Amino acid sequence: MTSNIGLKLVDRDEGGVDRAFRADVLDGMSEAQKAVPARWLYDDAGSQLFEDITRIPEYYPTRAETEILERRGEEFARLIGPGRAVVEFGSGSSVKTPLLLRAINPAAYVPLDISGDFLRAAADDLAVKFPELPVHPVEADFMRKVALPDGVAGMPKLGFFPGSTIGNMVARTAVDLLRTMRETLGETARLLIGMDLIKDREVLEAAYDDAAGVTAQFNLNLARRINRELAGTIPVEDLRHVARWNDDFARIEMHLEAKREMEFEIAGRGFTMARGETIHTENSHKFDQRSSATLLLAGGWTPMHRWTDAAGRFSLILAEASIPRSAP
Ligand code: AVJ
Repeated sequence: MTSNIGLKLVDRDEGGVDRAFRADVLDGMSEAQKAVPARWLYDDAGSQLFEDITRIPEYYPTRAETEILERRGEEFARLIGPGRAVVEFGSGSSVKTPLLLRAINPAAYVPLDISGDFLRAAADDLAVKFPELPVHPVEADFMRKVALPDGVAGMPKLGFFPGSTIGNMVARTAVDLLRTMRETLGETARLLIGMDLIKDREVLEAAYDDAAGVTAQFNLNLARRINRELAGTIPVEDLRHVARWNDDFARIEMHLEAKREMEFEIAGRGFTMARGETIHTENSHKFDQRSSATLLLAGGWTPMHRWTDAAGRFSLILAEASIPRSAP
């Protein structure tokens, strides 16, 4: 176990307000197209709602990726081999992570997460399932280079970034992250990364606007969180959840749309929305074989192998740290 557990990564003012949250909301709400970065969807309520989303019938990505992890264990073992330190970006899913660890017999497991609570829960869970495996949780913001624990210093690394979380970033942020991961993981590293695939608009829009309204609650929770934490007066019941496919950018966008003209305050500042105006709350980019390869190569990773689920909805890609070359 490492010593950086308990280190405070959230900077709060005297009133307990998360300064970065307030700055992101006030800046984003002042843009012509109002927008709030998607990372703020995940407070405790939002994280729970996302867990619920993974079980709704229309939301296929979690099941499709889990299917690949269940079925392709022998191929992972052959292509990745034993003895690597698995570094997971995010605190890990109780279902997906054990499937990978069982398949490849790693030397250590290092979950990275900004939330110490999730990290501890995930690490405890794994320690029970894999009593022999050294687990080194690190509380860190993985968007920046992370100093890995001494205990894994000599080991080759396998980065694990499932869930198509890379798709929540625009290309330049995704490339920055991929390059940072390469710095964190070292020259001999490999990366196993989930990337959701482009498919029919109807299927995609339903996955992000389910009949039971769970995704709507997930999206609306952001407005509730603003009201709770930033002394907001947003009339949440007059906002509508919208999920639409943007074909030009190959992404699903989530928005909160005003059902009527409205005025409200956030942290003492006044805002207005016209009827039909939206707050852009999330992008979820989708890929094909070529666009996923281009993104990985731009981030310093060469694709080695690519798996999809039987229905061809989701991809899991194994890549190796590219050797920098100047010549073609
Ligand atoms: C965070 C990438 C797993 O974009 O599919 C699910 C988040 N948003 N439904 C995704 C999300 C709405 C999700 N991931």
